[in-house]
Amino acid sequence: MDVAKPISTSHRQFATPEALMVRPLLLKPQWMNGLSEHLLVSHYVNNYGGAMRRLNAIRARLATLDWAGTPVFEINGLKREELIAAGSVILHEIYFESLGGHGDNPPTGREEPPAPLAQALERDFGSVAAWRAEFTAMAKALAGGSGWAILAWSERLGRLVNQWAADHAHALAGATPILALDMYEHAYHLDFGAKAAAYVDQAMANLNWQRIGARFRLAIGEGAEGDDLFLPYGAPAQDEARISAEELKAALEAGDDRRPVLLDLCLPRDLPRRTDMLAGAIMHAPSALARWVDELPRDRPIAVYCICGFQVSGTAVTELRRRGYDARAVVGGITAWHAIGGPTVPLDMSTYEDAPQTPL
Ligand SMILES: [Fe+2]
Repeated sequence: MDVAKPISTSHRQFATPEALMVRPLLLKPQWMNGLSEHLLVSHYVNNYGGAMRRLNAIRARLATLDWAGTPVFEINGLKREELIAAGSVILHEIYFESLGGHGDNPPTGREEPPAPLAQALERDFGSVAAWRAEFTAMAKALAGGSGWAILAWSERLGRLVNQWAADHAHALAGATPILALDMYEHAYHLDFGAKAAAYVDQAMANLNWQRIGARFRLAIGEGAEGDDLFLPYGAPAQDEARISAEELKAALEAGDDRRPVLLDLCLPRDLPRRTDMLAGAIMHAPSALARWVDELPRDRPIAVYCICGFQVSGTAVTELRRRGYDARAVVGGITAWHAIGGPTVPLDMSTYEDAPQTPL
């Protein structure tokens, strides 16, 4: 990735001129280090997704506003809510992208910042340990309230700063957050009750320093390596092999004869994690591809989704495209679909038949 192509444009961002698209989870929520899938997915779908839906509704309203004829209290209210929702969206994205391991390997808690970031932390705080002590103390001081602990790069101050934020709209002017730790109660209450300090320590043991380091290099104008750091592990690399949840929703609502066929893939071990599916989807085991592949149409797009859009759908889409199908992986899987408020129906496993003897 070069400097002229920042992380945020490494994949498409807008479903329409007003509507931002959700970003997928990059962490594997079922295999995190002491943070439960229930907590992480609830947070992502309800709080991050909720902020995104609110932001898009506000932006749609603003796009049609009669600026000359609207009372100032309405303008003030909408612009205030837009700022709060946008701050919540962006900080939640930095938060979730700052957590996680690599591929199927969960975070260990032993990863250290990459050298350029470690050197900057040493320069600005004395040592990485001193930075960590200040950052975690600042986060724990927000216990029982709400807000964010943020590590940001300030061009004007010429250094990294630990920035306290009491809400989504609190920011050091001109600074670029590279790590954000959510201190709203919804970020930890399901797992930790009121024990915010325990949550802070556990969150710190789940940091993905490669992505935080990439964000730092981008903030100081040195670019960042690897678009794939900001794509779900195993997702197809080519843009045309992916479809966002928002694009899929629009295509399904269009209802024409190019309406995508929906293919729901799930590993046998992941079945207990599933409760619902997209209406009209056909559910299969990826390992049984040889049995079901011939049922797929060749004259319509095929939207393939799994739980979070990692290698289950990614591997299948690569194989289907190799066989000539117009298959696309749903970015972020059904979890992203939930985050945009997409409708679902109860899980129907009547078409599901595992066949581990016939792998892809
Ligand atoms: Fe949150």
